[in-house]
Amino acid sequence: MKNQTISLNYTIYDSADELTDDLRKLLTEAKLALSKAYAPYSGFQVGAAAQLVNGAIVSGANCENASYPLCICAEPATLAAAASAHPGVAVKTLAITVQNLTRPVADPAPPCGACRQMLVEHEDRFQQPIQLVLQGQSDQVYVFERISDLLPLHFSGTFL
Ligand code: THU
Repeated sequence: MKNQTISLNYTIYDSADELTDDLRKLLTEAKLALSKAYAPYSGFQVGAAAQLVNGAIVSGANCENASYPLCICAEPATLAAAASAHPGVAVKTLAITVQNLTRPVADPAPPCGACRQMLVEHEDRFQQPIQLVLQGQSDQVYVFERISDLLPLHFSGTFL
Protein backbone atom coordinates (compact mmCIF):
# COMPACT_ATOMS: atom_id res chain seq x y z
CA MET A 1 0.00 0.00 0.00
CA LYS A 2 1.23 3.45 -0.86
CA ASN A 3 -0.32 6.81 -0.09
CA GLN A 4 0.09 9.51 -2.71
CA THR A 5 -0.41 13.26 -2.19
CA ILE A 6 -0.64 15.83 -4.98
CA SER A 7 -0.02 19.45 -4.06
CA LEU A 8 -0.87 22.57 -6.01
CA ASN A 9 1.52 25.48 -6.30
CA TYR A 10 0.41 28.89 -7.50
CA THR A 11 1.27 32.54 -6.97
CA ILE A 12 -1.04 35.17 -5.54
CA TYR A 13 -0.31 38.77 -6.45
CA ASP A 14 -1.93 41.64 -4.54
CA SER A 15 -2.35 43.56 -7.76
CA ALA A 16 -1.78 43.34 -11.51
CA ASP A 17 0.85 46.05 -11.02
CA GLU A 18 3.15 43.29 -9.73
CA LEU A 19 2.92 41.29 -12.96
CA THR A 20 5.35 41.45 -15.87
CA ASP A 21 4.37 43.83 -18.67
CA ASP A 22 3.39 40.88 -20.90
CA LEU A 23 1.05 39.34 -18.32
CA ARG A 24 -0.50 42.67 -17.40
CA LYS A 25 -1.14 43.41 -21.07
CA LEU A 26 -2.77 40.01 -21.57
CA LEU A 27 -5.00 40.54 -18.54
CA THR A 28 -6.05 43.89 -19.99
CA GLU A 29 -6.96 42.11 -23.25
CA ALA A 30 -9.04 39.60 -21.25
CA LYS A 31 -10.89 42.48 -19.56
CA LEU A 32 -11.57 44.07 -22.94
CA ALA A 33 -12.97 40.72 -24.09
CA LEU A 34 -15.66 40.90 -21.37
CA SER A 35 -17.53 43.18 -23.77
CA LYS A 36 -17.75 40.23 -26.23
CA ALA A 37 -19.65 38.11 -23.71
CA TYR A 38 -23.24 37.12 -24.44
CA ALA A 39 -24.50 36.15 -21.01
CA PRO A 40 -28.13 37.29 -20.71
CA TYR A 41 -29.16 34.28 -18.61
CA SER A 42 -26.47 34.13 -15.94
CA GLY A 43 -25.23 37.72 -16.03
CA PHE A 44 -21.80 36.11 -15.55
CA GLN A 45 -19.38 37.44 -18.13
CA VAL A 46 -16.07 35.69 -18.76
CA GLY A 47 -13.35 37.26 -20.89
CA ALA A 48 -10.23 35.40 -21.95
CA ALA A 49 -7.10 36.32 -23.89
CA ALA A 50 -4.50 33.85 -25.13
CA GLN A 51 -0.92 34.67 -26.02
CA LEU A 52 0.38 32.13 -28.53
CA VAL A 53 3.97 30.96 -28.85
CA ASN A 54 4.26 33.07 -32.02
CA GLY A 55 3.41 36.17 -29.96
CA ALA A 56 -0.11 36.65 -31.35
CA ILE A 57 -2.90 37.49 -28.92
CA VAL A 58 -6.42 36.14 -29.46
CA SER A 59 -9.40 36.76 -27.21
CA GLY A 60 -12.85 35.33 -26.63
CA ALA A 61 -15.80 35.36 -24.25
CA ASN A 62 -18.64 33.13 -23.11
CA CYS A 63 -21.67 32.75 -25.34
CA GLU A 64 -24.91 31.56 -23.74
CA ASN A 65 -28.04 30.03 -25.22
CA ALA A 66 -31.66 29.75 -24.10
CA SER A 67 -31.04 26.01 -24.22
CA TYR A 68 -28.60 26.20 -21.32
CA PRO A 69 -26.42 23.14 -22.05
CA LEU A 70 -25.42 24.78 -25.32
CA CYS A 71 -23.61 27.63 -23.53
CA ILE A 72 -20.02 27.98 -24.66
CA CYS A 73 -17.44 28.95 -22.05
CA ALA A 74 -14.90 31.67 -22.77
CA GLU A 75 -11.99 29.22 -22.67
CA PRO A 76 -13.06 26.91 -25.54
CA ALA A 77 -14.30 29.98 -27.46
CA THR A 78 -10.80 31.42 -27.18
CA LEU A 79 -9.07 28.14 -28.03
CA ALA A 80 -11.27 27.81 -31.13
CA ALA A 81 -10.58 31.43 -32.14
CA ALA A 82 -6.84 30.82 -31.74
CA ALA A 83 -6.98 27.56 -33.74
CA SER A 84 -8.88 29.30 -36.54
CA ALA A 85 -6.59 32.32 -36.77
CA HIS A 86 -3.33 30.45 -36.12
CA PRO A 87 -3.79 26.74 -36.84
CA GLY A 88 -1.17 24.49 -35.27
CA VAL A 89 0.22 27.21 -32.99
CA ALA A 90 0.30 26.52 -29.25
CA VAL A 91 -1.09 28.78 -26.56
CA LYS A 92 1.60 29.92 -24.13
CA THR A 93 -0.40 32.00 -21.65
CA LEU A 94 -4.11 32.39 -20.99
CA ALA A 95 -5.60 35.26 -18.99
CA ILE A 96 -9.16 34.95 -17.74
CA THR A 97 -11.27 37.53 -15.99
CA VAL A 98 -14.88 37.52 -14.85
CA GLN A 99 -17.57 40.04 -14.13
CA ASN A 100 -20.78 39.07 -12.41
CA LEU A 101 -23.48 41.60 -13.25
CA THR A 102 -25.80 40.35 -10.50
CA ARG A 103 -23.32 39.89 -7.63
CA PRO A 104 -19.72 41.13 -7.77
CA VAL A 105 -17.28 38.23 -7.56
CA ALA A 106 -14.05 39.28 -5.90
CA ASP A 107 -12.01 36.10 -6.18
CA PRO A 108 -10.35 35.03 -9.43
CA ALA A 109 -12.66 32.37 -10.93
CA PRO A 110 -10.79 29.22 -12.00
CA PRO A 111 -11.88 27.45 -15.21
CA CYS A 112 -14.63 24.85 -14.83
CA GLY A 113 -13.79 21.17 -15.04
CA ALA A 114 -14.82 20.82 -18.68
CA CYS A 115 -12.63 23.79 -19.64
CA ARG A 116 -9.69 22.30 -17.76
CA GLN A 117 -10.11 19.12 -19.81
CA MET A 118 -10.16 21.15 -23.05
CA LEU A 119 -7.11 23.14 -22.01
CA VAL A 120 -5.11 20.16 -20.80
CA GLU A 121 -5.61 18.42 -24.16
CA HIS A 122 -4.09 21.51 -25.78
CA GLU A 123 -1.10 21.23 -23.42
CA ASP A 124 -0.71 17.53 -24.22
CA ARG A 125 -1.09 18.08 -27.96
CA PHE A 126 1.53 20.79 -28.19
CA GLN A 127 3.70 19.67 -25.27
CA GLN A 128 3.48 23.26 -24.12
CA PRO A 129 2.40 24.26 -20.60
CA ILE A 130 -0.24 26.99 -20.58
CA GLN A 131 0.42 29.60 -17.93
CA LEU A 132 -2.87 30.74 -16.43
CA VAL A 133 -3.51 34.27 -15.14
CA LEU A 134 -6.79 34.83 -13.29
CA GLN A 135 -8.46 37.91 -11.91
CA GLY A 136 -11.95 38.49 -10.52
CA GLN A 137 -13.42 41.85 -9.61
CA SER A 138 -10.83 42.60 -6.93
CA ASP A 139 -7.16 43.50 -7.43
CA GLN A 140 -5.88 40.03 -6.54
CA VAL A 141 -4.37 37.93 -9.35
CA TYR A 142 -3.60 34.20 -9.31
CA VAL A 143 -0.95 32.72 -11.61
CA PHE A 144 -0.68 28.98 -12.28
CA GLU A 145 2.22 27.62 -14.30
CA ARG A 146 0.28 24.89 -16.11
CA ILE A 147 -3.30 23.68 -16.52
CA SER A 148 -2.40 20.07 -15.72
CA ASP A 149 -1.71 21.22 -12.15
CA LEU A 150 -5.42 22.06 -11.94
CA LEU A 151 -6.48 18.67 -13.31
CA PRO A 152 -4.25 16.03 -11.74
CA LEU A 153 -4.50 12.49 -13.12
CA HIS A 154 -6.34 13.83 -16.15
CA PHE A 155 -7.88 11.67 -18.83
CA SER A 156 -6.13 11.85 -22.19
CA GLY A 157 -5.81 10.19 -25.58
CA THR A 158 -3.06 7.98 -24.20
CA PHE A 159 -5.80 5.80 -22.66
CA LEU A 160 -7.61 5.26 -25.96
N1 THU B 1 -18.22 30.03 -17.85
C1 THU B 1 -17.08 30.19 -18.59
O1 THU B 1 -17.08 30.93 -19.59
N2 THU B 1 -15.96 29.55 -18.20
C2 THU B 1 -15.88 28.73 -17.11
O2 THU B 1 -14.85 28.11 -16.89
C3 THU B 1 -17.00 28.62 -16.20
C4 THU B 1 -18.29 29.20 -16.67
C5 THU B 1 -19.45 30.70 -18.28
C6 THU B 1 -20.50 29.76 -18.80
C7 THU B 1 -21.77 30.55 -18.54
O3 THU B 1 -21.99 31.40 -19.64
C8 THU B 1 -21.43 31.40 -17.33
O4 THU B 1 -20.02 31.39 -17.21
C9 THU B 1 -22.03 30.89 -16.03
O5 THU B 1 -21.74 29.57 -15.82
